Amino acid sequence: MGDEKLLDIKNLTIKTGSGRVLVNHISLDMEKGELLGVEGESGSGKTLTAKTIINLLPENLSWEAERFQVLGVDYLKADPKAIKSLVGGRIGYVPQNTGFYLHPMIKIKDQIADGYVLYSKSSIEEALARASKLVGAVGIKDTERLLNSYPWQLSGGMRQRVNIAMALMNKPRLIIADEPTTALDSTIQKQVVDLFRAVNEAHQTSVLMISHDLGLIKYYCQRILVMYGGQIIEEASAGDLFAMPKHPYTKLLIKVIPSLNIKRGERLEEIPGHVLEIGKPRSGCVFKERCSYRQDICATEVKEQSLDGFHTFRCNFDI
Ligand SMILES: Nc1ncnc2c1ncn2[C@@H]1O[C@H](COP(=O)(O)OP(=O)(O)OP(=O)(O)O)[C@@H](O)[C@H]1O
Ligand SMILES: [Mg+2]
Repeated sequence: MGDEKLLDIKNLTIKTGSGRVLVNHISLDMEKGELLGVEGESGSGKTLTAKTIINLLPENLSWEAERFQVLGVDYLKADPKAIKSLVGGRIGYVPQNTGFYLHPMIKIKDQIADGYVLYSKSSIEEALARASKLVGAVGIKDTERLLNSYPWQLSGGMRQRVNIAMALMNKPRLIIADEPTTALDSTIQKQVVDLFRAVNEAHQTSVLMISHDLGLIKYYCQRILVMYGGQIIEEASAGDLFAMPKHPYTKLLIKVIPSLNIKRGERLEEIPGHVLEIGKPRSGCVFKERCSYRQDICATEVKEQSLDGFHTFRCNFDI
């Protein structure tokens, strides 16, 4: 009672119109106030999963799930209007592509204030004061000038910071940040994650952070999901994942990070082998083509293992 999950998703599958499976039966949940990290191969389905939660899946794709509840709203039953107002009013989204969310011909101040006026029933002055405070908090000094700019006048890093400020405007209960720091230099990166953490501590805002930067995720998140080929292949607390990664892909990931300090968000060094061609019908383990521990059984079967109920992984072995 009262312990309602913030996110409760069971067996989410995302497909193209022609039936190619892009995300394959993933389950995830989040508690109030949790900082959850999602890490994984490029093309593994991280962004599509986030877009399903904010109800913005590209039109050529469709999803299905056994359970899909966000902040107590059941997407399988809810009125589309209820989902729209939930997403607009209570979820802050930082998109991976910094240009995507901003209209090029509308001044930043109008874009940033609009949603706040709409959902908080505040005046435009209040909205602008809040916007100014938030863009200041993401390290922008001349806030007045920034707010009076058009997106096309800004660098990628500036637009990313605008997106972050915008995501925080409505005092969301859940922030979904998709690679929020890639275009930022290291000082600002740290400022941004510290800002998320401060918001988390002050308001118990939950944050789902997608990032290639394992150092950042380790520093920041309590629990981590690792995705590969449309599946969650490992899930553990941050401490356990780094202390004893179980899936061969996670082991490789951790091995290739040169250092776990927060630094400029470069892409991870490529793990040798072929990148999986996602969407092809397949059986067995999703990582089998690239796995050095592979045995015949991996072609047809994969075991879901659990160490203590909290640390789970999909592999036939315990290596
Ligand atoms: N609209 C679409 N139509 C068809 N396929 C798509 C569409 N959008 C994404 N995909 C495919 O779905 C898969 C998952 O994409 P997604 O963007 O979720 O990956 P990701 O894990 O976020 O990768 P990255 O780390 O590069 O951001 C990819 O193979 C991608 O090419
Ligand atoms: Mg992505």
